[in-house]
Amino acid sequence: MSTFSKKYGPWALVTGAAMGLGAEFARQLAGFGLDLILVDIQPEALKKTTESLTRDFNINIRPVILDLAGQDFLPSLLAAIGNLEVGLLVNNAGISAIGHFLDVPLEKHLSILDINARAPLILAHHFGGLMRGRKHGGIIFVSSMSGLAGTSYVGEYSATKAHDLVLSEALWQELRLSNVDVLATIVGAADTPGWRAENPNPDTKTWPPVISAEDTVRETLTALGKKPSVVPGAQNRLATFLTTRLLSRKAAIEIMGKVMEKRYGTDE
Ligand SMILES: NC(=O)c1ccc[n+]([C@@H]2O[C@H](COP(=O)([O-])OP(=O)(O)OC[C@H]3O[C@@H](n4cnc5c(N)ncnc54)[C@H](OP(=O)(O)O)[C@@H]3O)[C@@H](O)[C@H]2O)c1
Repeated sequence: MSTFSKKYGPWALVTGAAMGLGAEFARQLAGFGLDLILVDIQPEALKKTTESLTRDFNINIRPVILDLAGQDFLPSLLAAIGNLEVGLLVNNAGISAIGHFLDVPLEKHLSILDINARAPLILAHHFGGLMRGRKHGGIIFVSSMSGLAGTSYVGEYSATKAHDLVLSEALWQELRLSNVDVLATIVGAADTPGWRAENPNPDTKTWPPVISAEDTVRETLTALGKKPSVVPGAQNRLATFLTTRLLSRKAAIEIMGKVMEKRYGTDE
């Protein structure tokens, strides 16, 4: 049994685990010997990820098909996992919508709020309580660099990622007294199906550059238990330093807005 699995086992629960960063979290956690509860809304993709992990690792896997936007998703999740002991929660599932705030339907904004902020809050409250009782465990919130300051054209997404970051920081301080490690990972552009869907020309040069899902997750897991937040990728760390320390908040918002206009052609 690895030190990691002693601290964060026996089961890790990863949301949005069928693909992208979630599937990579699942793979790297399997490498540490953790059993996995994999939650996702996509049945086919989840089946494939489960089969591939079952082939490669000698661990137990419980796939759960679930919509985290459902107002009452927790009882369904608990019914599916019974009394499996979750030692690590990875709040990874997230969605976004690119466009003028007023042109994106309100229903879409509300789904972003539910999946990116409400669901992580509910899961952290439930599983964090059990971890505090056992006096060990970990919770990871997958935030985003767009949560560092208001990012136009993804305003609600950016607001939910700020929610995740700030909640995570507060829990880091509160729960470490109970030996529960909480970490926000502030992700820049990472090469995943979700990122590719929004960036159909992945070879276009951007700064900071896109980094792999593998590096993003490895740097995140390395930071767990060491600090309240991490920014995977050296150039993402530099961009974060510029955005949060060197530039005024006003300048940071304006520059991020210009980048979004250039990238997505959303200026009028
Ligand atoms: N990739 C990046 O550049 C980047 C940058 C900053 C932050 N992040 C954050 O990192 C996390 C993972 O991103 P990713 O790029 O790996 O995403 P992804 O490639 O789109 O994969 C996310 C997975 O979560 C699933 N999911 C979405 N809504 C769900 C719901 N209501 N219930 C259950 N599962 C649901 C998705 O299904 P569907 O395909 O049906 O949506 C998909 O299988 C997100 O929180 C994202 O905001 C990513």
